[in-house]
Amino acid sequence: MQAQDRLIVALDVSSLDEARSIVEELKGSVGMFKIGLEMFTACGTEVFEFIESYKSNKNIRFFFDGKFHDIPNTVAAACRNTTRANVAMFNIHAQGGIEMMSAAAKATREQAQLLNIKKPILIAVTVLTSISENILHEQIKTSKDLDLPQYVVHLAKLAKEAGLDGVVASPKEVPLIRNACGDDFVIVTPGIRPNWPELASDDQKRVLTPSQAIAQGSTYLVIGRPITKAQNRLEAVNRLVAELV
Ligand code: C5P
Repeated sequence: MQAQDRLIVALDVSSLDEARSIVEELKGSVGMFKIGLEMFTACGTEVFEFIESYKSNKNIRFFFDGKFHDIPNTVAAACRNTTRANVAMFNIHAQGGIEMMSAAAKATREQAQLLNIKKPILIAVTVLTSISENILHEQIKTSKDLDLPQYVVHLAKLAKEAGLDGVVASPKEVPLIRNACGDDFVIVTPGIRPNWPELASDDQKRVLTPSQAIAQGSTYLVIGRPITKAQNRLEAVNRLVAELV
């Protein structure tokens, strides 16, 4: 994979006009654009029409960060609908368990076959990076014998067993997951900040630079504000890519 294909730009904006201007500016220069709950709750299913409007251009790909977590039947239906929307990648929560994840994988596979399209990459969120070990043990009441990285690896292995293609993970957990799940497993990592003097780390606490994240074993890097808030977005992307090669 080329360095630029590893970049996923987070479209954390609340209008389709803003999203379109970013896509127009960066198309052909990055691997994917991520549309998440902020845009979905602001624009509704128009986000799917937006994605559909780029269907003829195979170089413009979208990651729908919908993080589905519900009973298997409902998640399977949501996966069919998302597959129909022509996204390249989307995600569900691993904490929905193996039955839910297997139903999601099956529904996605079958829907793609039916439409005769490439199956979207289906990945799982393991543990949100906003969840600390304390929350895990004191509120969610997972076993105290299992520390957070072990729990993340456990969920990643479960996702693999269910037939998913990969996981979203904090940069910190990437080497353990890579080791447990193998080279082909897709690992998508947010929390990336290039080491540029003018940049703040914003609200991200544990950050890695893009090249550190790739060296740890990440497949794709999700990067938002360092690109979307840059004075010249294309220049920011080119500078990032240059650091990766
Ligand atoms: O602007 P920034 O690079 O911090 O954006 C990171 C993107 O990755 C945001 O869309 C954020 O919601 C997402 N994300 C994250 N940490 C997670 C999961 C997703 O930052 N654990």
